[in-house]
Amino acid sequence: MATVLDTVRAFFAPAPTFVIENETPADVVAREILLDRAMGADRRKKSSEKIRRGRVPAEGLALVARDADGHVIGTVRLWNVEAGVDSNSRPVDALLLGPLAVDGAHEGKGVGSALMRAAIAEAKARGHGAILLVGDAPYYQRFGFVAEKTRHLVMPGPFARERFLALELKSGWLDDAVGMIVGSGRKLSRAGRRQKR
Ligand SMILES: CC(C)(COP(=O)(O)OP(=O)(O)OC[C@H]1O[C@@H](n2cnc3c(N)ncnc32)[C@H](O)[C@@H]1OP(=O)(O)O)[C@@H](O)C(=O)NCCC(=O)NCCS
Repeated sequence: MATVLDTVRAFFAPAPTFVIENETPADVVAREILLDRAMGADRRKKSSEKIRRGRVPAEGLALVARDADGHVIGTVRLWNVEAGVDSNSRPVDALLLGPLAVDGAHEGKGVGSALMRAAIAEAKARGHGAILLVGDAPYYQRFGFVAEKTRHLVMPGPFARERFLALELKSGWLDDAVGMIVGSGRKLSRAGRRQKR
């Protein structure tokens, strides 16, 4: 139960300068501009991009951060993948996270962390077993991502093993997972493919 002190604290707490929400079709152009600025045009050549190309993100797992005026200042999406197979040769369902990016003018204000925490919580609430990504370990380890969990997995193309990280949402989910990451999400419609170009 909230105490009087909690109420007083909440009253005087600074108003949040951004919110995390589900991405809408109206956000696509702003999100792509943000990604080009944050990551450069070469972002489309990454191995992760091969897995995402032509597919829609996992249900409920395309998030944006908006500033007080509603502008998109951050983005993260997660994608359905098969993370190799288990000891019975059955595909291991998982999520691939990325890209994560924050507008340069808003870096260092906790936007990236808020996007990560919201994405992890939503993935967990939806019953997913693990999240994989390729990124800077010093950034992602604060959310629990480790390279040790991907040691028997490979990306479909060049990747740096120390940047290939995973977080288990269900303990032991990746224990037996061996093999290549392949996209398994719903395919983009023809209209969606045109919008991407
Ligand atoms: C990485 C990124 C998403 C972080 O977003 P952000 O909103 O600035 O992050 P937060 O404010 O939540 O966290 C800032 C903290 O992360 C640290 N950090 C940021 N990028 C980092 C990196 N690549 N490696 C290690 N630490 C990093 C900052 O030093 C800061 O540390 P502190 O809390 O000790 O001061 C953002 O800088 C970005 O979009 N970068 C360009 C695209 C990119 O590199 N995406 C991720 C691919 S690995």
